[in-house]
Amino acid sequence: MSHEKIETNVGWMAILIAIVISFGGIAEIVPLMYQAEAVKPLPGVKPYPALELAGRDVYVREGCYNCHSQMVRTLRHETERYGHYSLAGESVYDRPFQWGSKRTGPDLARVGGRYSDDWHRVHLMDPRAVVPVSNMPAYPWLAEAQVDPAVVARNMRALQRLGDPYTQEDLDGVAAAVAGKSEMDALIAYLQGLGKHAPKG
Ligand code: HEC
Repeated sequence: MSHEKIETNVGWMAILIAIVISFGGIAEIVPLMYQAEAVKPLPGVKPYPALELAGRDVYVREGCYNCHSQMVRTLRHETERYGHYSLAGESVYDRPFQWGSKRTGPDLARVGGRYSDDWHRVHLMDPRAVVPVSNMPAYPWLAEAQVDPAVVARNMRALQRLGDPYTQEDLDGVAAAVAGKSEMDALIAYLQGLGKHAPKG
């Protein structure tokens, strides 16, 4: 078939373009099906404990991902700044994952333990209190809102159904784990856990 024939026939064009594009997808997806280590949790990586799970939901609900990625690239200037580059096995229990590419603020994949809980609290109440030039919004209402144990338990059960290895004990422990905690407490617990299973170095 000559070039001209293809280029003047929109049906053929569409079919052939779809085939060409699918090669890119196949090249990315098929190897993952055979690389068990890419989809297996790294040693020590467990489903999020109740309070962190609640905090993760706050993170997603508030749209923190609009300004923060959670993926350190395999580039020297990234690993120098943030630490070990991100591995797929760290985020097997992230549904949906928060890798992202939008970085109005810094990447948060390794932020756990970098600041104290108090720093986070002040920062979330009013970012400019600790970083005067910050353009991050303030989230004061999180300190008022209480975590709802029923919602956390429901989320945990849904994740269990999707295959996350939560136990009955985890489910039974939700109410005690989040009792009296604000959404701010939960979000900070989540932030402090980010990167804790990253390879060292
Ligand atoms: C409009 C963009 C924007 C949004 C939305 C946003 N941030 Fe930020 N964030 C920033 C910027 C810019 C900085 C750097 C200045 C600073 O530290 O405040 C930052 C810094 C941070 C830091 C400190 C990181 C470090 O390594 O120093 C944390 C933690 C953080 N943000 C958490 C959050 C959380 C949690 C949310 C959602 C509740 C959020 N951010 C929403 C822009 C944003």
